[in-house]
Amino acid sequence: MSKRVLAFDVYGTLIDTHGVIAELEDTLGERAQAFSQRWRDKQLEYSFRRGLMGAYAPFSDCTRQALEFTDRALNTGLSEGQMDRLMATYAKLPAFPEVAEALARFTRAGVTCVAFSNGTRDAVDGLLGQAGLRDHFDDIISVDEIKRFKPDPAVYAHLRDRTESEAQDTWLISSNPFDVIGARHAGLHAAWIRRSAEAPFDAWGGEPDLTATDLLALSDRLG
Ligand code: LAC
Repeated sequence: MSKRVLAFDVYGTLIDTHGVIAELEDTLGERAQAFSQRWRDKQLEYSFRRGLMGAYAPFSDCTRQALEFTDRALNTGLSEGQMDRLMATYAKLPAFPEVAEALARFTRAGVTCVAFSNGTRDAVDGLLGQAGLRDHFDDIISVDEIKRFKPDPAVYAHLRDRTESEAQDTWLISSNPFDVIGARHAGLHAAWIRRSAEAPFDAWGGEPDLTATDLLALSDRLG
């Protein structure tokens, strides 16, 4: 039995946050993609700002407030009802296509897999459940348990506490470069899932321990 622990980021790594685009297209047409990107960027900015301010709120608050901001910034005039529906869609986002098969490979290989997210336990549990992925995970570890956000070093220490793992056995798997850099800063290994060939990595002078185009490619190297 491997003692390696793989901690999978959720939003953007397992689950496609741009799964809202189809619904946005109904109202916003060709502006849907730009809206979705701005919404996601603002959501993360709010988590960073709340972390710095010491003003934690559940990640879904960041998501909702970022949605309202994006509506104001892009002057799209969404109604409360439309925003409510978009938030409901956010709880039913799809998984990326290869994720289930890749997770099955990891579990067959005896690797401990946990979901590790800014989202609350209930939000992540629901999201993974509706995407058919929940059974692949030994546990869900949420930053909400310590009321901090990624990439605060405390959340990566919390991950190790909860999984009772040594830093050298603990891997963060994420498509978000800020998460990869945060995990490495905290002494963990980190794999960057570079889902798009155009996706840049931050020029911070450090590299991920491993880069893969998707989770199946990752399982060929870490399974
Ligand atoms: C998460 C965000 C960072 O799931 O994508 O933690």
